[in-house]
Amino acid sequence: MRIRTVEPGDLGEIAEVLRGSFRIYNCMDIDGDYLEKLFRTDDTVSLDSTFVVEEDGRIVSITMIVEREIRTVLGWIPFAGIANVATHPKYRGRGYASKLLSYIEDYYKDKGYPIIGLLAGYGEPAHRIYRRRGFYDISYYRERILVLEDIVNTASMLKKRGETSSHEPVIVPITSASIDTLSKLYNDDIASRYYGVFKRSSRRWKGILETGQYATWFLGNHGVGWLYDYGGRKAYSLVYPIKESILSRCRDPSAAYILEIAADNRHYPLVLADTLEKLYNMGIKTIYYRPPPDKEHLVEKNRLVIPDETLMAKPCNQERFRSLIEEKYNKKVVIEKHDTYYAIQYRFGTIKFTPDSLLRIMLGVTGAFEEYFNGKIRVQGNYRILLEEFSSVLSYRPHYIVLTDKW
Ligand SMILES: CC(C)(COP(=O)(O)OP(=O)(O)OC[C@H]1O[C@@H](n2cnc3c(N)ncnc32)[C@H](O)[C@@H]1OP(=O)(O)O)[C@@H](O)C(=O)NCCC(=O)NCCS
Repeated sequence: MRIRTVEPGDLGEIAEVLRGSFRIYNCMDIDGDYLEKLFRTDDTVSLDSTFVVEEDGRIVSITMIVEREIRTVLGWIPFAGIANVATHPKYRGRGYASKLLSYIEDYYKDKGYPIIGLLAGYGEPAHRIYRRRGFYDISYYRERILVLEDIVNTASMLKKRGETSSHEPVIVPITSASIDTLSKLYNDDIASRYYGVFKRSSRRWKGILETGQYATWFLGNHGVGWLYDYGGRKAYSLVYPIKESILSRCRDPSAAYILEIAADNRHYPLVLADTLEKLYNMGIKTIYYRPPPDKEHLVEKNRLVIPDETLMAKPCNQERFRSLIEEKYNKKVVIEKHDTYYAIQYRFGTIKFTPDSLLRIMLGVTGAFEEYFNGKIRVQGNYRILLEEFSSVLSYRPHYIVLTDKW
């Protein structure tokens, strides 16, 4: 058995393992060219961050690592995202995926990545596998599904609510000439507002617009969306209609995703309403939309589907994670009892956090998501110091913080 990174000649074989492991890839009938295009258009995945196990002279197991910078309470920090974990069906249950994941965790620990994480389908076997490997459930995506009249009704409700603009918008389709504007709007209205978002380079923007490559399995059509100009205040919406993409072989071609909207608070409802209308007029019958936590009220509560994908994470390089917290808060952090808790030392005592609580706080995943955690935020120590120190992230709903002395 040998573990190594990949070369261009491996891509066909990797696509075969992926087709044999994921229904969606099988249906999309992905091949080496698909992966080549993926690497070319997304600078956060590469041959050097794709790892395989070789056995009997063939590739039997693969994992791709998405190397991104994520915005957290600690600032922008490196995040190793595990994706496309797959073992050839004939070679399963022999420990290959486990060995590969252990190798990768050590590799990224050595590279100084403070956090490693992934998205797992809630309740799927892989979810349990990762829990056993020490990954914590951090949050769930809450996807809304709007069907037919929901689309029209939501659009008119948003317009009626009285959010208006003093300017009629100038609306133009997004093209590759829009990259600089999109990038600025992303930075101003998304990346500086929300935690848990990823840094995006111009090359990544170019890839999104050339191929619609937004998440790994979205590849296959051109970026679609609109740029809005309200008397100088700009906004955009980026959508993914399935009918024009490779996904139309496998998913309902009359459905579309709203991938993201960048707008200030005042114009966001207007842009959302216009986007819903435009999609409806294109013949779209179902819309999938994951609103950011502070925009959930804009779509009806009963259009909620939970839990969808689960964000799981754990500290990768503990020392690095700890020193980032120490630098940020200028306080000593102690990891004790074999990862049972982290303690931040203050002059008047310490505050202890379970590792998952601390990860949630540092990743800024509090507030709207908290009600779906069993453990919530578990801490021990001076409640007042805690609220003062972390008020920016905890201020939403402090009653979800559970004071505990069980570790
Ligand atoms: C998940 C998958 C990658 C595991 O690969 P593998 O090489 O067989 O895994 P391993 O032999 O190293 O086993 C890993 C763990 O999964 C468990 N496992 C293996 N097959 C399993 C199964 N069919 N059902 C439940 N658990 C299983 C093992 O017991 C082991 O758990 P442990 O670490 O507690 O001992 C493989 O089954 C696969 O390709 N599945 C389809 C694709 C997929 O779902 N990928 C994960 C989502 S990103």
